[in-house]
Amino acid sequence: MIHAFYSLSAAVALVSNVFLLSLLVSPDPLQPPVAQAALWPKPAYACHGHRTVQVSNEFRFDLPQDSHPRLVEGAARFRNRIFNSDFVSPVPMSAEDAKMEDRSQVGGGGALKLRSLVVDVEDRLGSIALGLGIDESYRLSIAYDEEPDSDFELDAEVCKQIAKEPFGPGFKGILKAKTIYVALHGLETFTQLVTNSAHDTAPSGTKEIAQTPLLIHDRPLFPHRGVLLDTSRNFLSMVSLYRTIDAMAMNKFNVFHWHIVDSPSFPIALDDQVGGSGGGGQDEDEADDYEYEDGSNGEHVYKDRTHTKIKATWTNNNNIPLSQLAAKGAFSEKMVYTKKDISEFVDYAMDRGIRVIPEVDMPGHAWSWSKAFPEITTCLDGFPSYSRFSAEPPSGQLNPVHPKTYQVIQGVYDQVLPLFKDKFVHGGADEVNFNCWNATKSVVDLMESKNIPRSKEGFDRVLDGFTERQHEMLRHAGKRPIVWEEPLLAHDLTTIKENKDTVIQVWTSAENIKKTVRQGYEVITGSADYWYMDCGFGDWLGNWTMGKSWCAYSDWQKAYSFNPLLGLNSKESKKVLGGEALLWGEQVDNTNLDTKLWPRASAVAEVLWSGNSEDSSSKLWDGRKQTKNTLRHIEALDRINEHRFRMEAEKILAEPLQPLWCVKNPGHCNWPILDTKPEDMEN
Ligand SMILES: *[C@@H]1O[C@H](CO)[C@@H](O)[C@H](O)[C@H]1NC(C)=O
Ligand SMILES: *[C@@H]1O[C@H](CO)[C@@H](O)[C@H](O)[C@H]1NC(C)=O
Repeated sequence: MIHAFYSLSAAVALVSNVFLLSLLVSPDPLQPPVAQAALWPKPAYACHGHRTVQVSNEFRFDLPQDSHPRLVEGAARFRNRIFNSDFVSPVPMSAEDAKMEDRSQVGGGGALKLRSLVVDVEDRLGSIALGLGIDESYRLSIAYDEEPDSDFELDAEVCKQIAKEPFGPGFKGILKAKTIYVALHGLETFTQLVTNSAHDTAPSGTKEIAQTPLLIHDRPLFPHRGVLLDTSRNFLSMVSLYRTIDAMAMNKFNVFHWHIVDSPSFPIALDDQVGGSGGGGQDEDEADDYEYEDGSNGEHVYKDRTHTKIKATWTNNNNIPLSQLAAKGAFSEKMVYTKKDISEFVDYAMDRGIRVIPEVDMPGHAWSWSKAFPEITTCLDGFPSYSRFSAEPPSGQLNPVHPKTYQVIQGVYDQVLPLFKDKFVHGGADEVNFNCWNATKSVVDLMESKNIPRSKEGFDRVLDGFTERQHEMLRHAGKRPIVWEEPLLAHDLTTIKENKDTVIQVWTSAENIKKTVRQGYEVITGSADYWYMDCGFGDWLGNWTMGKSWCAYSDWQKAYSFNPLLGLNSKESKKVLGGEALLWGEQVDNTNLDTKLWPRASAVAEVLWSGNSEDSSSKLWDGRKQTKNTLRHIEALDRINEHRFRMEAEKILAEPLQPLWCVKNPGHCNWPILDTKPEDMEN
């Protein structure tokens, strides 16, 4: 274990060299190939010996020549974290590990010192772009020699070799990764390995690494590991968003899903002129690209493949005052994100290997657009009966038959999409309410004129028309759409059926994962029954005094117990891109963001990185084959406890999971053995 000792008296007792040497006569050379270091998330494969070494004060990351600035700056950040942190874990090393630990190398001047970590990155120039599906595997070793040529899946033989190796002054640290982004994840792992020595024998401030030699072969189970934050229901400051990125990087998350606009507020500050000089938008000539089918006078006539949808035609309009969306739709003039804010944020996230995927929700959840453009919205704020028109106040949807609706959306996309470098954009499309459109005269009139019945199926066709146009705008801008599950599962939209590369994000129930992948779609999981971090805090409607949160609280154990692949065959499993921890914003702002998200989202992070159980296909450290998947909650508890304190040391206000006494006494706060009778107790 890399846990530093907490109890000083225990430390004093154990670090007596004489005492230690007597223990070292025959240290068990073989440890489980799964690391016992308190790494979070747990690496896929790891094994280690029992010697503790120092990290030299002159320690440096040895980067390839001409490395990309993201790597150079990233390494400097990690070095600062290592040397500026005074974090000492409150979780003690297990008695068994402490017994085996060899600290003879830590003490005074003659101690073994790690002077550098060689960072070997194949794409050191950063030519491979951060995106879905890049190679995220890395190898980290602190060993005497180059690591033995071994399979990615470390087996007992290699581990035995590592643990037995002579371990003298020639030992090295090596990190090998394909891309700079993965190298950053590997540096996080390395940084977690380094602790402040709490031992008397080492000078104060000594940095050390326990359990060397060690070998870690690591890669994630899923390529999409996300956190969703909602900045429309309550405003979150840039400081909060940056801090969230820092915490995400500590958990090896790689996608920030920014649910930026919803009904309550429109916080993106846009420019009036799409073609204006200050906006970074396109000029008039480029605007012509948006003509998808021949039309005269710059008229945009979107192709209607099925002839059953409602067609909207419009001309490009560069004179829509888009600045009014935030000027009138944000909570205040300070509660907005400028284009500069967004661009810098996207860059900051990419510096940490995190993609940012924006979502401007539509056509439901759109009251906030109405302040600037009432004509493109409908059934606004139906107080007190908003529930006829929306799941929560304020009600308001985009009008799918008004030409200006599409001019505004196009204008918003023209300015917003270039700010985000990722291939994916989330198109929203959750909870579209047909009562709303059914109560909208312009919609109903147009349906009647086209002989479209006002049935559920009729409104599906209206929604299909909207979605087809919206997604054509996204695809034309080179983006690949993600949508919430309804367009497929509730509305069976032709647009989705004809574009199987649309990614579906399941949210209402984990059951829907199966339904989605069986139809051939790639899916992002994260449903309310496991991974909604906002559930269970009570209802927030004013006079509903007996109200309850609509979904139950997920504690870290529940979040950790979710298996995104449950019940899927191997072909179906390949369609699961990953998942997200979602924190909707009704009752979240800068004051409680961290506590609601962390460390419960860390549980999600580990499930997505290396799972929640020991895999049945892997061999146990002693060569036995494991016969079934075993949930590893118990083993995870000490690690997540330590990780929580590690995050706190980095100014992330992660909440405690247990009384501190339990953290300091691992295993003593488990569910009791119920048949212990009082007379069984000593004394
Ligand atoms: C729309 O309203 C009409 C008239 O009230 C009603 O007959 C129809 O069932 C409604 N459609 C839907 C999908 O609710
Ligand atoms: C809450 O107040 C609204 C009027 O503002 C009323 O219509 C509704 O019945 C009230 N609900 C409860 C549970 O008292």
